[in-house]
Amino acid sequence: MRLDVVTIFPEYLEPLNVSLVGKARARGRLDVHVHDLRAWTHDRHHTVDDTPYGGGPGMVMMTGPWGEALDTVLADGYEAGARTPALVVPTPSGRPFTQELAVEFSERPWLIFTPARYEGIDRRVVDEYATRMPVYEVSIGDYVLAGGEAAVLVITEAVARLLPGVLGNAESHRDDSFAPGAMANLLEGPVYTKPPLWRGRGVPEVLLSGHHGRIARWRRDEALKRTTAHRPDLIERCPPEAFDKKDRETLSLLGWSPDPAGEPYGRFWCRPKAVEQ
Ligand code: ADE
Repeated sequence: MRLDVVTIFPEYLEPLNVSLVGKARARGRLDVHVHDLRAWTHDRHHTVDDTPYGGGPGMVMMTGPWGEALDTVLADGYEAGARTPALVVPTPSGRPFTQELAVEFSERPWLIFTPARYEGIDRRVVDEYATRMPVYEVSIGDYVLAGGEAAVLVITEAVARLLPGVLGNAESHRDDSFAPGAMANLLEGPVYTKPPLWRGRGVPEVLLSGHHGRIARWRRDEALKRTTAHRPDLIERCPPEAFDKKDRETLSLLGWSPDPAGEPYGRFWCRPKAVEQ
């Protein structure tokens, strides 16, 4: 997979050299190119922004440098044999970045990221390139960053770990908390390793029992508890067939019951009153 990133802070992307993404590059699974947007400015101050039409606070990134940068990146990529690019525009007004989108990105051969600073990029840039390739405007969460570079790091790491041969075990993605198509997306419960006693704190006895059935049941119940506490919206959306009899018993103890009224709207479970955890 080829990745291009155009930014005014190329050094912000240094982490792409380390850890998992760095390894993916070293193994030839990822071909990363980071470009300085200011290389496509022509004035003494290397200006990339100007005041917004219509007034208002902040500055807007200009069409000129972005247009030249993207034309060059595209031409270079095609020359090197890359095909079917997609543009990824990190923005707080984008669609939520999810595991499903990470999987979709991991199946594309070429992603071009345009992290912006200030109030964003002149709209005409996205409109122009959207006539030539798929454009994904994505947000990594409901908060506003100073720029899109950190979002590029987040998205790249989520995508790189899905590439064949990057994480040791291809099976491992199937059990990811947010694996698309899973019957139920539940949060992982707690995990433990040696030593068995630390500062007077033991490990749940069931995990030392060697009884695989009981361990699997315990893990499932812990996942249901944690999801109830941190992401009740995930439980609400689980279809009834996602849960077996024992799941339903645990859910009932946690205060959940089937929600016949909500079902047509995709809400299958409700919790009328918050239950003490
Ligand atoms: N740029 C600023 N905030 C962002 C966010 N939440 N997601 C993606 N890009 C951003």
